[in-house]
Amino acid sequence: ADATRENWGTRLGFILAAVGSAVGLGNIWRFPGVAYENGGGAFLVPYLVALLTAGIPLLIMEFTIGRKYRASAPLAWRKLSKGAEFIGWWQTIIASVIAVYYAAIVAWAAWYTWFSIDQSWGSADETGGFLFDFLGADMATGLFDFSGYSQQVLWGMVAVWLIVGVVIVAGVRKGIERFNKIFMPLLIVMFGVMVVQALTLEGAATGLNAFFTPEWSELSNADVWIAAYGQIFFSLSIGFGIMITYASYLKKKNDITTSALTVGFANSSFELLAGIGVFSVLGFMAVQSGTPVDEQVSSGVGLAFVAFPAIINQLPFAPALFGILFFLSLTFAGLTSLISIVQVPAAAIKDRFGVSQKAAAGVVWAVLAVISVSLFSANNGLFMLDSTDAYINAFGIAGAGFTSILVVFWIVRKWPVIVENANSSSTFQLVKRRKDLWFGALGVVTVLILGVTLYQSVQAQFQVEWAMEYFGLEDAETAQPFVDYGIVLVLSALGLAVLLNIVLLGYKSKGEEITSDD
Ligand code: PHE
Ligand code: NA
Repeated sequence: ADATRENWGTRLGFILAAVGSAVGLGNIWRFPGVAYENGGGAFLVPYLVALLTAGIPLLIMEFTIGRKYRASAPLAWRKLSKGAEFIGWWQTIIASVIAVYYAAIVAWAAWYTWFSIDQSWGSADETGGFLFDFLGADMATGLFDFSGYSQQVLWGMVAVWLIVGVVIVAGVRKGIERFNKIFMPLLIVMFGVMVVQALTLEGAATGLNAFFTPEWSELSNADVWIAAYGQIFFSLSIGFGIMITYASYLKKKNDITTSALTVGFANSSFELLAGIGVFSVLGFMAVQSGTPVDEQVSSGVGLAFVAFPAIINQLPFAPALFGILFFLSLTFAGLTSLISIVQVPAAAIKDRFGVSQKAAAGVVWAVLAVISVSLFSANNGLFMLDSTDAYINAFGIAGAGFTSILVVFWIVRKWPVIVENANSSSTFQLVKRRKDLWFGALGVVTVLILGVTLYQSVQAQFQVEWAMEYFGLEDAETAQPFVDYGIVLVLSALGLAVLLNIVLLGYKSKGEEITSDD
């Protein structure tokens, strides 16, 4: 056992930190758009199914792995099975990559909080205000142009990284726990006030109608179900090693299942609240401009930094208050998530090299901060950010989640150990029917959905045109089998490598079973 390993001060502290990680940009700017595009009110059905069959069961799994092995993601997976260590490093890499660009968005949100005071965001009614005036993007020079930097973004990012550095170097209890204990309640209150103000706007009902009107026919669309699982994965920060890392600071007697239920439902409640707030505002804009709500809908960067400033300019009262509440919420939600992602590599490096938490956190912080600021304060940083984000979502998250479940349920088959360990301290017990449900939900349903998601992502990378060119073929129909073949080949090779790694290393370590509960 590692005597220097920290613990959370209280269980509430752990829950707030986990909710702090979960509640992020995904709740505020991703969920409303995804729900609207995938059936509106009807989306709540697959969404709820995904929460119950993937979200909460996986939180239970990750919390248990973290608490049982009391280690960072790579070491925890290694203790579960020697050959599974690579999953932890994969998650560490995903977390580090996300941290590097997530910090830029937090910095933008912080600047827009400041601009909200007098709505000084330039020509907010066009994309130009954000893209050209603020970021200084140059469409003519392409993705990787580092000749120009935005001073504002640069200093904003430096400030964001300084805050993150102070918090993670201070440690789990004095840094992370304390930060979340202050900023999570603040975030909830601020966001709540913003939603109330949004609900008073003329047109709010129109927006909410558009948002909640169920398109029941969408329920027979497989893509809608995949979107629901994707949203739950991203939104609950599962599959990145974050929840394993945070749970590794739990005490043996801390409850697991009730915590997972609390974190899962808290995150979804915040998400629903954001949907209500965002669509009230979009409804207001639709009524103001005499256009259907449909034309106002956007998500991501466009929603927060282009649509919202334009709408705030038109608010009938207290636009500054509304802007500050919205962008400060975005900033706080982003900061608490960013801190959780940086803790993943920090903990991994600590365990790998046996250095102190402070030293590991300091080194990881410095490396990530330098990369982050130099890449993403460049004028064209946004273009890079978009494509990185798409790849991480498509391969990183779905891939790591898929592999984790496959390993735990079908290759190493340690799931009974996890159930037993979770039950050893929890009020909500996974026994009999619940245990079977948990197994079916993850080991069968979720793993299949993730498999299909992954296959689609890989498929999207293989263009028929390339095969036509490569093999000198005339028409797409003849080229299609080559593409399908390629995909099957790549996936089989990857799968075989994973399986061999786990089986061979696992075989080698037979007998030296690591029994490190504490
Ligand atoms: N869960 C966060 C959200 O909903 C996103 C996130 C992803 C946070 C990865 C940390 C790491 O926005
Ligand atoms: Na979330």
